Amino acid sequence: MARFTIVTMPGDGIGNQVLPEALRVLDAVGLDAEYIHVDIGWECWRNEGNALPERTVELLAKHKLGLFGAITSKPKKEAEAELKPELRGKGFSYFSPIVSMRQLFNLDICVRPCIGFPGNPLNFIRKKADKPDGGFEEPQVRTVVFRQNTEGLYAGVEWTNPPEKVREALATHPKFKPFAGVPGPDMAISVRVITRPAARRIVEAAFEYARRHGYKSVTLCEKPNVLRETSGLMEEVAKQVQKEYPEIALWSTNIDAQMMWLTKNPEDYGVVVASNLFGDVISDAFAGLVGGLGFAASGNIGEEVAVFEPTHGSAPKYAELDPPIVNPIAMILAAAMLLEHIGEGDKSKRVWNAVADVVREGNVRTYDMMRLVGGPKVIQQGAASTLQMTDAIIARL
Ligand code: NAI
Ligand code: MG
Repeated sequence: MARFTIVTMPGDGIGNQVLPEALRVLDAVGLDAEYIHVDIGWECWRNEGNALPERTVELLAKHKLGLFGAITSKPKKEAEAELKPELRGKGFSYFSPIVSMRQLFNLDICVRPCIGFPGNPLNFIRKKADKPDGGFEEPQVRTVVFRQNTEGLYAGVEWTNPPEKVREALATHPKFKPFAGVPGPDMAISVRVITRPAARRIVEAAFEYARRHGYKSVTLCEKPNVLRETSGLMEEVAKQVQKEYPEIALWSTNIDAQMMWLTKNPEDYGVVVASNLFGDVISDAFAGLVGGLGFAASGNIGEEVAVFEPTHGSAPKYAELDPPIVNPIAMILAAAMLLEHIGEGDKSKRVWNAVADVVREGNVRTYDMMRLVGGPKVIQQGAASTLQMTDAIIARL
């Protein structure tokens, strides 16, 4: 019997192209694992009215370790129109399976490393400040974002035309006065729920990571001056947790200011922690400095179950191309994160190093790394295919 069992969920679109590449890398690095391939995503929705079928949930609950590709999500009405005819009008509503999975298994810690590989032509550069015509410099970005993954504005507590009781409750708040007369159908409300235990878990995870990896600060990225209650609670918790980590400073930034600072001095931000939506925003922003979606990996980690995935989606416009052209590195780094999570730190490091070597050498580059417009022509234009990129990484291993 293999040492590890990993539930693999390629999902939709390019998820089916990149996930098998990650498995090739795991084999090449000698991971003793067996893989159980399961269904998730759009086809499940169309045929069963559920993008996250019960059988998939059961296998994840049993084996507790997942690798996920990507899914396609569509707005409510479009989704309903694509259900197979027998299921339409039967009350099925579409939920993104990755969001459902996070909530179902309480995968509340989302880790997104945004670490620049030297030599990546997509890395952020800036003008040198001291000599205006003195050329450019490339700050070394090594930010790791900790995003709370289950609550905040993604809690799903929302209405258009809120029920009367909700309106009555809101009317007890003096700030609701200006909205009290707005007709129900003209009003939509999303509730931002932050709980103390979940805030503590994400902040502790960030400080713990900072301690283990030698970062000197943790930056809480919120907006406590305006979102006094929810961001305020995050900040209060962060101040308490910091006391247990005296060697690590706590910085607090506002999300808007942080979006500006991250292109001025991204190297100043090591570990960043934020609530759900802000963490989503800030992790994409940092990812943009180190190569974008082709390089952005994430872990969704709960107390029992953990699922690793590239941050990107299913990129349907590239899903049918043969050979596939998308960059498998994000998915491969997700597999490297999985390795670290299961205690295979050496194998994880070998994968990171192999990716770093291939990027530094620069002989094999997918279309995104050449700033080409994606499409079937990119191969003739000198871009590596998805498979060639993986081959190069495996050769380096
Ligand atoms: P996307 O991430 O799928 O693609 C956006 C663009 O980024 C692509 O068109 C492509 O130019 C580039 N890109 C993405 N992955 C790449 C890779 N590995 N290599 C090179 N270039 C890459 O986001 P989009 O187009 O907004 O959404 C497409 C579908 O994916 C939607 O249905 C959306 O809901 C879903 N989605 C799913 C996610 C998930 O499964 N976790 C996350 C984000 C979007
Ligand atoms: Mg996102």
